[in-house]
Amino acid sequence: MLIVALILYCFSWADPIKPIPQQIRYDLKKALIGKELFFDPILSRDRNISCATCHDPEQGGTVHLRFSPKVSENLKANVPTVFNAVFNFRQFWNGRAKDLYEQAAIPILNPDEMGLTKEEVERRINKSDKYKKMFKEVYGVDYITFNHVIDAIVEFEKALITPNSRFDRYLRGEIDLTESEKEGYALFKKLGCITCHNGINIGGNSFQKFGVVNPYKWEPYFPDRYKITGREEDKNVYKVPSLRNVAITYPYFHDGSASTLEEAVKKMAYHQLGITLTDEEVTKIVDFLKSLTGEMPAILRK
Ligand code: HEC
Ligand code: HEC
Repeated sequence: MLIVALILYCFSWADPIKPIPQQIRYDLKKALIGKELFFDPILSRDRNISCATCHDPEQGGTVHLRFSPKVSENLKANVPTVFNAVFNFRQFWNGRAKDLYEQAAIPILNPDEMGLTKEEVERRINKSDKYKKMFKEVYGVDYITFNHVIDAIVEFEKALITPNSRFDRYLRGEIDLTESEKEGYALFKKLGCITCHNGINIGGNSFQKFGVVNPYKWEPYFPDRYKITGREEDKNVYKVPSLRNVAITYPYFHDGSASTLEEAVKKMAYHQLGITLTDEEVTKIVDFLKSLTGEMPAILRK
């Protein structure tokens, strides 16, 4: 299957990676309410954490920790970035949320994360003069429902895109890359990384097994696709993460087991493709991956 996909890619004229659009449609007024909520600990039981505690824009939309902060035994997972999450075909490592709307409700209601009930969210938000005023102005409502809260947060998340990375500018023919970056991209295609990491998010558009060629043992085990579908072939299968901004979203893998990009690239080549890369190849691929760091989302400055 890998071979067939590879051949298809070699013969396709269009580049298998698409640049992030410079503009995306969203409602700025709603998004600005969502921004306020995203940073507000009002949405957590003890008023001590917000979405931004775990998805810090200053840390690439994630946190530089192996596992999520405030973890319980149920949440031993590395935090994926919220940047460009709007382009993912599903949300979460095992894809259990179908879109951002379904996703955003989960951490708020999860007792191991923010731990509120829908009623408590509504009670708190409706008691706030600031939010009453904002929602009245933009949504035209006197009573703010849980769904209004989710809608505003998602509108903000839609704006969290990072266009104009050096690589995107190269794809658009605006700049040239260094020799090392170009050779890294050529290797990325030639070796077969591109079969799983492609499209606008260079990932985020399929479920794949980790350990296709050489098995990978997770430590600790975190629910995979198998947990959801019950199908034998879904064991050790997770959503392929986006490689956008990957240079600033360390550590890597859903178990946070790779602390550097070099280590992640070597492990990928070994476990997914059965290849042991030379140091020179690793350097080139890492140089290419570093060219995927985009501009910080414009809405953060608004
Ligand atoms: C306690 C830390 C924590 C908080 C608070 C938190 N998240 Fe997350 N977030 C995570 C972890 C861990 C995952 C991955 C869990 C998984 O895959 O099962 C995740 C996954 C996500 C994803 C999916 C990204 C992807 O590529 O699959 C999005 C989007 C997201 N969070 C948005 C939010 C929003 C919006 C809020 C606030 C309402 C929030 N998160 C609050 C830790 C947190
Ligand atoms: C068969 C599909 C497949 C192939 C081929 C593949 N990957 Fe991956 N990649 C994945 C999956 C799945 C994950 C997530 C593993 C996990 O954490 O559960 C991943 C994760 C990564 C990560 C970590 C991203 C993060 O944010 O944690 C990097 C970096 C990466 N891949 C680079 C590469 C490179 C470079 C190659 C080629 C040498 C490659 N991948 C080949 C499927 C693939």
